[in-house]
Amino acid sequence: MKRRIYLTRVISDEAMKLIPRQKYEIDFNRLNRPVSRDELIKQVKTANGILCMLADRIDRELMDKAPYLKVVSNYAVGVDNVDVAYATKKGITVTNTPGVLTETTAELTWALIFAVARRIAEADRFVRKGEFWIWSPALLLGRNINGKTLGIIGCGRIGQTVGLKAPAFGMKVLYYNRSRQPDFEAKTGAMKTSLSALLKQSDFVCLHLPLTTQTKHFIGAKELKLMKPTAFIINMSRGPIVDENALTQALKTKTIAGAGLDVYEKEPVVHPELLKLDNVTLLPHLGSATVETRTQMAIIAMENLLAVLEGRKPRFAVNTPQ
Ligand code: GLV
Ligand code: GLV
Repeated sequence: MKRRIYLTRVISDEAMKLIPRQKYEIDFNRLNRPVSRDELIKQVKTANGILCMLADRIDRELMDKAPYLKVVSNYAVGVDNVDVAYATKKGITVTNTPGVLTETTAELTWALIFAVARRIAEADRFVRKGEFWIWSPALLLGRNINGKTLGIIGCGRIGQTVGLKAPAFGMKVLYYNRSRQPDFEAKTGAMKTSLSALLKQSDFVCLHLPLTTQTKHFIGAKELKLMKPTAFIINMSRGPIVDENALTQALKTKTIAGAGLDVYEKEPVVHPELLKLDNVTLLPHLGSATVETRTQMAIIAMENLLAVLEGRKPRFAVNTPQ
């Protein structure tokens, strides 16, 4: 009997071509939106492997309804949408797509750094209003990047890649991470600091932590208060890492100068107050969103999935079920 693969969204043709059709039956969500919970539960009942997105919650309830499931291939680097511990117990391998999206995500971190420092989104809105304007000494003044301090919280692959570009912009680098990163320090002159020292000294604070039970609300009112009133915070990791109410308050009261957000606490819902503020630049979770990277992610996610179903070791497993 053919084994069954379910994809929660349509992905690149190049990845679809990898599936040996004589061996597998393939089904996928054809809608241009996430699959409903009910549909996903129905689909996993007979699936041997699923390829899913970060918006799909793969929890205990779902896995208990999936007697044949051997692999959950997440089309993302973050796996906070999957109960990995439970998957391990159930003998389900969970895979992800690290590496290929590192540069792409780091580039968008820089795009947000420049956007907040030079008020790009606000300036674009200003021009589109179509009102009369003329060059003026104080029109939409931003802040320099050169000579400033970049603070990286979570110095893994993406955090380090962001930091590697900093010397080219004449910036000093501080980082907060569990372990020291000597190679990174050698290449950038970066210094490992405590969280409070980083928050107090940085002009641009970038979050690159994975979301776990320990990192939820890692940045709250107390941490925001430590930041300089001229500093900016950039969140390219996961929304719940920042207490969004506290951030909104800090932006309203100018406790900090501004923020650049790619992710939200209740994604895809954005705090309604944030929508009204000019000192925050908002993106719809686009970290890995380039043609090149999404194609590579699709290929890797498919290869991971097929490897597990064929009894080979996948390139990127995040657990090792027995
Ligand atoms: C995107 O946020 C990812 O985890 O790949
Ligand atoms: C993700 O790829 C990270 O380690 O930062």
